Amino acid sequence: MSKRSAFWIFIIGTSISLAIFLWLTYDTHRQVDALTHTENLNDQVVAGKHVWEDKNCNNCHTILGFGVYYAPDLTNVYQRIGAEGIIAAVQRPEEVFGDSFRKMQNLNVTDQEAEDLVAFLEWTSYIDNNDWPPQDSDNRLSSEERRLAGTGLSRGAIAFKQNCMGCHSIGGAGGSTGPALDDIGDRYDASQIVKYIGDPASVEPGSKMPAQNGVSQEDREAIGEYLAKQGGGQ
Ligand code: HEC
Ligand code: HEC
Repeated sequence: MSKRSAFWIFIIGTSISLAIFLWLTYDTHRQVDALTHTENLNDQVVAGKHVWEDKNCNNCHTILGFGVYYAPDLTNVYQRIGAEGIIAAVQRPEEVFGDSFRKMQNLNVTDQEAEDLVAFLEWTSYIDNNDWPPQDSDNRLSSEERRLAGTGLSRGAIAFKQNCMGCHSIGGAGGSTGPALDDIGDRYDASQIVKYIGDPASVEPGSKMPAQNGVSQEDREAIGEYLAKQGGGQ
């Protein structure tokens, strides 16, 4: 090949690539409003973005790929764990991630800030970004498994939240119809707790707790394991 044809291949190849690149950039910008659903951008979403910045969530998390890779990308977290999951994670991380090897600190997020963060993360989760980040599309996992993996919560902690927290609290969170269970592991082992769920009086004669027959056997065992760990003498 002569020097001259190499020159023209370079010039033409570069120009074509540049033209395609510029067109795609223009085309993407043209669609930003539609892809990001700007019609849903309200004051609360904006307030949530400000909380995100004030609290420096990016110090550990990524969003749309930007940030630090210590903790999960939160672009689609709203669809993974929902509003309640987000609120629990930001307000009670020490409890929600108690079983996890990774730690999220408690950033003293107020109720209002938590609601704003939910609005922001709900908005980001509906941005049409070709399903980024890709692991969220991993449909080999059931949504339940994905939810468990996503929150870092053990099955027992989730089942406890769903079935027992209306009446019982741990770490100050939950209902007060039944006693707080912060140190329940000091009094009962896992198998006694499993028994307590299905037939309270068989463990504690005269117990006023109604039997929780709607809880599946797997969930009872998971709750037993989880609660047996609550207390000083674990
Ligand atoms: C010091 C680092 C750190 C900071 C700062 C931090 N997080 Fe986290 N966050 C984590 C870690 C680590 C996890 C994952 C814990 C696990 O699953 O083991 C997590 C998990 C979460 C989850 C659940 C993620 C999922 O996929 O289920 C949410 C929601 C969350 N964080 C929101 C926030 C928000 C909002 C902020 C800012 C207010 C924030 N985090 C600040 C470390 C951090
Ligand atoms: C409708 C309210 C209610 C729900 C729901 C409920 N409990 Fe209870 N629970 C109680 C009450 C009330 C007591 C106190 C019983 C007594 O001492 O008479 C109690 C007592 C207990 C105790 C014994 C506490 C102690 O200090 O001796 C355990 C363990 C327990 N509950 C576990 C559970 C688990 C696990 C679940 C969820 C599967 C659950 N409870 C759901 C009301 C409830």
